[in-house]
Order: sequence, then structure tokens, then C-alpha cells
Amino acid sequence: MSALKLVNISKKFSQAEQTFEVIKSANLEIQKGELVSLIGPSGAGKTTLLQISGLLDSCSDGQIFVNDIEVSKANDELRTKIRKDHIGFVYQFHHLLPEFSALENVALPLLIKGVNKSKSFLEAEKILSNVGLADRLNHKPAQLSGGQQQRVAIARAVVSKPSLILADEPTGNLDSSISEKIFDILQNLVKTYQIGCLMVTHNTELAKKSDRIVSIKDGIIS
Ligand SMILES: Nc1ncnc2c1ncn2[C@@H]1O[C@H](COP(=O)(O)OP(=O)(O)O)[C@@H](O)[C@H]1O
Ligand SMILES: [Mg+2]
Repeated sequence: MSALKLVNISKKFSQAEQTFEVIKSANLEIQKGELVSLIGPSGAGKTTLLQISGLLDSCSDGQIFVNDIEVSKANDELRTKIRKDHIGFVYQFHHLLPEFSALENVALPLLIKGVNKSKSFLEAEKILSNVGLADRLNHKPAQLSGGQQQRVAIARAVVSKPSLILADEPTGNLDSSISEKIFDILQNLVKTYQIGCLMVTHNTELAKKSDRIVSIKDGIIS
């Protein structure tokens, strides 16, 4: 089963009566348990491709399948549901809620899905232990290091056991030894929970450690 399948995806932006084709007939398939690195120069279309894959933006043409469900023509309600049930996001900056503890931040996606409180917190604790933060459950983001904050953000993306994780430069803000540790944690979760992961990175060492490298330039995937 594939986590993500893009078939002939294109994306055009119109601006001042000009049209820019930012993604050109892209094809990509990511299996569950597979971590794929997406590399390419700035402006190549990496973030746009992730936003489309994560159903946060629409494509101009082509088909998208998440967890083998075709979502290309889904309405907003279904897109929101698919996103909630099947997709986790990790960004360069952690976007954790500052007034909540690590445990609460990670439990939140489950609570929003309607999972009861005790189960949500139990699962959150389990995943935080998985990423090596069992002793930081009650710390707030400001009381954690950059690497620890990013581990919490990864735990939050994984806690609802999505089919797909989309990570946009998750280590872009961290130094290299911490980046490698974060990558190892992500890779471990991808294998443990059989999640497909598409990770944008500028770090060629990390890209080499992933299952596959896909590069994009001027909107063309190769
Ligand atoms: N909302 C938008 N409207 C118009 N052009 C956009 C928009 N978002 C991105 N672009 C353009 O699409 C191209 C790819 O952007 P992006 O996907 O952010 O690149 P990357 O993440 O690889 O650096 C850029 O040329 C950018 O200017
Ligand atoms: Mg980008």
C-alpha cells in the first residue's frame, strides 16, 4: 500500500496576468515505511509539492492518492478529514503551542480527533518516550532545546499514526550532530509505525541515509 501517490501533478500560479508553472507534471509514489528525501535549490517547488501532497493547497492538474484514497477531487470537508486521519506535518520551526507542556502538545491531535483524555495522554507519553523525552513531559517549549522542541514536533506528527508524514526542512534550523539525531528518530518512527515520509532537506548527508532521494529543479522531478 502506498502512503502517497502523485500522478502528473501540475501547479500554476497566476500573478499580474502572468502564469507560472511551478510544478510540471510530477509523478511520485511513496510506500509505507519508506523515507524519501526531496532535494533541490531554493524556489524549485519543494514546499509547493509538500503543500499539495498535504492537501493544504490544490493542484492545477493531476491526481493525488493518500493511503490509496483518491483525494484530487475531494471537497474541503473530506480533505480536512483525510488530513486529520492520515497526514502528519513537521516544519522547520516547531510551531508548538507555547503555553502547553510537551505532553499536552503531543496529546492535542488525539484529543481533537475525539480520543478520550486518558488514552490521548498515554499515547503521547509513549511517543515522547520513543523520541527520548520521557523526562521532559511537563516542560514547556521554551524550557526545551531546539533539538528537543523538534522531537516534540515529530512526536506530535506521529502520535495519530498517520499514513504519511510531510516534513519541510525539519532539521534546517539545527546544527549537524543534532540534525542527524533528529533524522534517526524520524527514520525509526517511519519504520516502527510503517509511515511513508517525504522530507525536504538541504543536508546531503541525511539525504544519503534515507531510502531514496528525489530531486526537483524548476518544478521538474527527476
Ligand atoms: N502563493 C504563491 N503565489 C505565487 N507564486 C508562488 C506561490 N508560492 C510559491 N510560489 C512560487 O513557486 C516557486 C516555488 O516555491 P517553493 O515551492 O516555495 O520553493 P522551494 O520550497 O523549493 O524553495 C517559487 O518561484 C515561488 O516564487
Ligand atoms: Mg521551501
